Amino acid sequence: MKNIALADRAAGFDVNALRRQFPVLARVVRGKPLAYLDNGASAQRPLAVIDAVDDYERHHHANIHRGVHTLSQEATALYESSRDRLVEFINARSRHEIIFVRGTTEAINLVAQSYARPILKPGDEILITHLEHHANIVPWQMVCEQTGATLSVAPIDLRGEVHEDAVVALMNPRTRLFSCAHVSNALGTILPIRRLIAAAKARGIATLIDGAQAVSHMHVDVQELGCDFYAFSGHKMYGPTGIGVLYGREQLLERMPPWQSGGEMILAVSFAKTTYNGLPNKFEAGTPNISGSIGLGAAVDFLQGLDRDAAERHETALLDHATAALSKIPELRIVGTAGDKASLVSFAVAGVHPHDLGTILDEDGIAIRTGHHCAMPVMEFFKLPATARASFAFYNTFEEIDRLAAGVERARKLFA
Ligand code: ALA
Repeated sequence: MKNIALADRAAGFDVNALRRQFPVLARVVRGKPLAYLDNGASAQRPLAVIDAVDDYERHHHANIHRGVHTLSQEATALYESSRDRLVEFINARSRHEIIFVRGTTEAINLVAQSYARPILKPGDEILITHLEHHANIVPWQMVCEQTGATLSVAPIDLRGEVHEDAVVALMNPRTRLFSCAHVSNALGTILPIRRLIAAAKARGIATLIDGAQAVSHMHVDVQELGCDFYAFSGHKMYGPTGIGVLYGREQLLERMPPWQSGGEMILAVSFAKTTYNGLPNKFEAGTPNISGSIGLGAAVDFLQGLDRDAAERHETALLDHATAALSKIPELRIVGTAGDKASLVSFAVAGVHPHDLGTILDEDGIAIRTGHHCAMPVMEFFKLPATARASFAFYNTFEEIDRLAAGVERARKLFA
C-alpha cells in the first residue's frame, strides 16, 4: 500500500494543512472520522467563508442599495465587492455581466424565460445533450411548451462522452440555443465545450454552459470560452447555499426583459408606466441573498489563494486512485469512463442497491451520494435505476478512498 501521508503531500500540496481550514472535516460520524465524498452535491465551507458570513451577520447587516445609513452602505459595499471578485474569477468583461441568482437552476430558468421565450417561434429548436442534469432539461421543456419550439438532444456514447460531430449534426438554421454541462454531475465527463461553443457560434446559435460541477475543479475564463451564458452555484465551490451566478454577455442581457419584477429592478414606478433599472439590478428583483453573496466572494478569495494547478493535480490523482481501487472489486461497474473526467466516480455493484451501499458506507462514516443524481435520462441510457457516486474535492485523501473501497467490498460481501 502506498505511503498515504507522502502521497497526499505529493507535488507540494499539503492536504492536511488545507483540511484544517474546513472545520467539518474533523467530525466523527458513527464513531468514525468523516470521509466526505459527496462534494458534487455540495462542497464544505472553509473558515474564510464561515468567518466572512459571521462577520457580516454580526456587524454589518442591513438592506442594500436603499439606505443612507452606515450599515446599509457597508452591506452594499460588501455585496457589490463580491460581484467584483466574481468578475475577476471568471474573467467577465464587467460587473454588468454578473447576475446574482439562487443557483445554477435559477440561472438556467432565467435564460429560458427571459432570453429564449421572447425569441422562440413554433418549429425553432433548443439543443442540449443526453447527459444533462434535470436543471438543464426541464426549463427548456417548459419554454418549448410555451412557444411551440422543440427540444433536440445530442447522443452520448457508452463511455459517457459527447462527440462534437454528433452535436454539430443536430445544429441547423432553426437552432436558437445550445445548452450543455461543462462537467456531467452523474458521470464526471468533461465536455469539449470550447469546440462545441465555437461550432454553435459559427452558426449564429447562442450558447449556455452549466458550470455547476466545473468551477470548483478548473479555471473558467468566459471570454476565452466565448459562451453567451455561463451558470454556476456557490455551494459547490465552497461558498454558501442559495447563491449562484448567471454570467451573460452584456449585449444579450441588455436586450433581455426582466425575469422577475418588484423592488430593486426598477428606476421609477407609476401606475401608468414603470422604467426598469440597468444591469445587473434589472435581474435582481427583491432583497437578494446578501450574506450568501458575501460568503461567495470569500469563497472566490479562498480559491484564488490556493495553488489551483496543484489542487487540480491532487484531484486527478484522487480520481486515478479511486478508479484503480474500485476497479479491483468484483461485480463493480464504473459508469462513465470518458477519457476526460473531473474527480468523481459513479458506479454500480451487481446485487447491491446503491441506497443500501450508501447506508452501509454511512456506518463507516463515509458520505457518498446514491440515486439518479437528477439525471434520469443518463440512468435510463445505462439501463440503471441509480448509481453510487463518490465525488472528490482537493481536501480528500487517498486514505479516504481506500476506506471507500473497503466499505464497498464489505457491502458486496454482505449481499453476496
Ligand atoms: N446537482 C447536485 C448533484 O449532482 C445536487 O448531486
